[in-house]
Amino acid sequence: MTQLLQRIGIVLPIFQAPMAGVSTPALAAAVSNAGALGALGLGATDADGARAAIAELRAATARPIHVNVFVHGPPRPDAARESTWLAALAPTFGKYGAEPPATLRTIYRSFVEDDAMLAALVESAPPVISFHFGLPDADRIAALRATGAILMASVTSIAEGRAAQRAGMDAVVAQGWEAGGHRGVFDLGSPDEQLGTVALARALVRCLDVPVVAAGGIMDGAGIAAALSLGAVAAQLGTAFVACPETSASSAYRTALLSGDRARTVMTSAISGRPARCLVNRFTALSEQLAAQTPRVTPPDYPIAYDAGKALHAAAAARGEHGFGAQWAGQGVALARSLPASELVATLARELRAAGRRDAAFSRQA
Ligand SMILES: Cc1cc2nc3c(=O)[nH]c(=O)nc-3n(C[C@H](O)[C@H](O)[C@H](O)COP(=O)(O)O)c2cc1C
Repeated sequence: MTQLLQRIGIVLPIFQAPMAGVSTPALAAAVSNAGALGALGLGATDADGARAAIAELRAATARPIHVNVFVHGPPRPDAARESTWLAALAPTFGKYGAEPPATLRTIYRSFVEDDAMLAALVESAPPVISFHFGLPDADRIAALRATGAILMASVTSIAEGRAAQRAGMDAVVAQGWEAGGHRGVFDLGSPDEQLGTVALARALVRCLDVPVVAAGGIMDGAGIAAALSLGAVAAQLGTAFVACPETSASSAYRTALLSGDRARTVMTSAISGRPARCLVNRFTALSEQLAAQTPRVTPPDYPIAYDAGKALHAAAAARGEHGFGAQWAGQGVALARSLPASELVATLARELRAAGRRDAAFSRQA
């Protein structure tokens, strides 16, 4: 199973999660240069942005890199639902001296309909490409495979894992309920099984023939060792990297993330229109308040709701209130550290070796 790492060309079983809006070429380069797999989240950018980010990353590292796109079903605009949502947010906009936007836009295109992004990926040929929120069609998969790319998909259930394997993915990223950021569920219409990382990763290792990368709540070498002992070939860490100086996280986000035992997370759909794990903040409190209202107001489809979420964050931030940001974080947030990415990777590798020595000592005693 370490064949996946050999195919990619890395030694450390550590993947930095692609994080749209937070990961940067500087972060990914530092991680890849340190011997792990650095990644760019391209889900919130267009083809030109992707080309520029990949070129910047390639100029900063000759090591393997990973890029990620969003494969959600295109949103269904619904003027009535959108205006009800904006009306529900209006009093909060008002507190910060602002009006909600008159209408909402689809701020990102899904990879399922973005031919320009497909062309950009084929042209720049990154060695590892992953998909979040679903799987592209067979033609897109074939076009990317023809570049020689190793393909991976985030999955949150055994059924999604099997679908990813059937579609020809080279590996799956088992994203547990603990994970920070958007949940990669394929179909929002089906009940979410909410499987934790341990249960999901282990079940996928047993059920699939392709390698499994574990993600969700993994913050240190002991967590990576735990993932490997479940049979995962690597661990993908997001929250652990957010406070690295190389990310584009705002200072308010960093401060909230590094608040130690006080940091709490919750799953919310109110910020973007899809479930995502976020630090408990003003927006998640508002989301709970709206969810308790009768009749219940539900956010528009992703990413239309995100247009409103970003506007509210901007209005509040302009008045000095930073608690309406998309402060994504996983359940392991109390363990977050702020280290330069190269030092974080070296620390994770050291901790992983120490965990290995503990396991070996235990086996000798047993
Ligand atoms: C700030 C942030 C942004 C994220 N953005 C993406 C993304 O663009 N694409 C993706 O596949 N996963 C994204 N994720 C989810 C990660 O791939 C991964 O599942 C998650 O970070 C693992 O949980 P952890 O944060 O507890 O380590 C994001 C996670 C965070 C924390």
